[in-house]
Amino acid sequence: MFEPTDDNLRLGIVGAGAMGGGIAQVAISAGVQVLLFDQNPSAAEATRKAVIGRLERRIEKGTSSREEVDRAVACLRVVDELSHLADRQVIIEAIVEDLEIKRDLFRQLEALVADDCVLASNTSSLPIGAIARVCRRPERVAGLHFFNPVPVMRLVEVIRGPESDPAVVKALHGLGRRLGRTPVEVPDSPGFLVNLGGRAFTTEGLAILQERVATPAQIDAVMRDGFGFRMGPFELMDLTGMDVNFPVTRLVHEAFFHDPRLRSTTLHRSLYEAGRLGRKTGQGHYRYVDGKPQAPSADAPVSGDPAGKLVLLEPDERLQAFAAELGVELACDDDGSSPLLAAPVGEDCTELSRRSGADPRRLVAVDLLPDTATRVTVMGAPNVDPDIRQSVVNVLGRSRRVTLIKDSPGFIAQRLLAMIANLGCEMAQIGLASPADIDTAMKLGLNYPKGPLEICDHVGCRTTFRILERMQALTGDDRYRPSQWLRRRADLGLSAGFIAT
Ligand SMILES: NC(=O)c1ccc[n+]([C@@H]2O[C@H](COP(=O)([O-])OP(=O)(O)OC[C@H]3O[C@@H](n4cnc5c(N)ncnc54)[C@H](O)[C@@H]3O)[C@@H](O)[C@H]2O)c1
Repeated sequence: MFEPTDDNLRLGIVGAGAMGGGIAQVAISAGVQVLLFDQNPSAAEATRKAVIGRLERRIEKGTSSREEVDRAVACLRVVDELSHLADRQVIIEAIVEDLEIKRDLFRQLEALVADDCVLASNTSSLPIGAIARVCRRPERVAGLHFFNPVPVMRLVEVIRGPESDPAVVKALHGLGRRLGRTPVEVPDSPGFLVNLGGRAFTTEGLAILQERVATPAQIDAVMRDGFGFRMGPFELMDLTGMDVNFPVTRLVHEAFFHDPRLRSTTLHRSLYEAGRLGRKTGQGHYRYVDGKPQAPSADAPVSGDPAGKLVLLEPDERLQAFAAELGVELACDDDGSSPLLAAPVGEDCTELSRRSGADPRRLVAVDLLPDTATRVTVMGAPNVDPDIRQSVVNVLGRSRRVTLIKDSPGFIAQRLLAMIANLGCEMAQIGLASPADIDTAMKLGLNYPKGPLEICDHVGCRTTFRILERMQALTGDDRYRPSQWLRRRADLGLSAGFIAT
């Protein structure tokens, strides 16, 4: 078994595409001796040159010295025969995503290498067990799943196949660390951590869009301004490409036997089938001109008179504190004509009006769950008086941007945050990883500002549970079924990351 810190560690990489090249770059930068093989020799040579070019640019930028780059480059060699990998201590496979082709390669490699050579696959979606089962020594096979672009993305998932030897898994952890990545371990499960956990953000965004509650530009703006996401779900899908996002979504949904929590929308499929893949085709959820998205405004126009008085519908400290800053007269008793302001959690205005008896024509709701310093989301029931609603928008619009959406239990941010948190809780419940590793994986693998369990704690376990429970009741859709992990922590007043010691 190889020792990850070995000065003369001998690594083989098969497949010199985007991933193989990135893995080679971080490996040689860590002083690992790399042999790179591709069935297409010119692809391997082009990748070697590209890797050297990227390292040379580090000298120009002042992030590496000439000596460091020369030392790294001397560690990289392209070989034109698979048999040249015979002396490798560990081999990472990064070839085409096809089970039979990968199995064939693993069979060939086993016939070449020593019995203690570790064979790792960088597959994104194939079960490690399905590759390992054709091997003579399945215990030496595991997953080592890097993210694209490898030199930038600090995460690596170490996938423990059903037969993987714990010592192999441990050695791959060490290799990941030596290559400058943060390893998280995960069992052989569909989508591993990141490709499963990432489903909630995009599919719930698509559900909100399909219900015509809000536009992609509005949903993206709310998640950026309200919770610090670098990109909203639609910007993210356009960047990743629908050709990657849709098949992964479908694969994970099917692999979890159509769990409604992982379901997507018909709209998702039609964009994929229409070839509206995102930035790479110039058209996805947004149209791109010179690489820039042509996004319509996410902001409601502010025009006309602001309301002079607001009636706060229910006693709510957060609403009182928010409204106190608005510079208008506030009241708690309905005078029969002023706008009624509310901050529902997991309810739409229709349900709030039914439950409280409030006049839906004068009821205007704001989402106080996300940060409202720069943007606030506003909604009303289908029969809200547009003039009354506009008078409230005119008050709010004096100090922040306003996103005006259709009636929706949970607005935008409550829905998205609760769905991300719930999926993270479910991943903890089924033992995919520790809460800390789930959070690390989602922050490093997807650039989320907080991990799903941290989001759950930020929102509060009880509030997250309440949003989901109400959404499930109002929609009748088990898509919003709360995880038992979440229910227990909400009922017991524990943190989402609580684990019994
Ligand atoms: N691109 C990503 O974002 C990403 C992220 C994580 C994991 N992955 C996984 O990494 C693997 C490689 O992905 P990629 O994006 O680098 O693909 P790619 O198409 O850029 O490169 C694949 C390379 O493998 C070579 N190849 C194909 N069959 C071969 C064989 N039998 N023997 C030797 N070489 C062979 C091809 O010539 C090609 O150069 C896939 O399993 C993919 O699922 C991709």
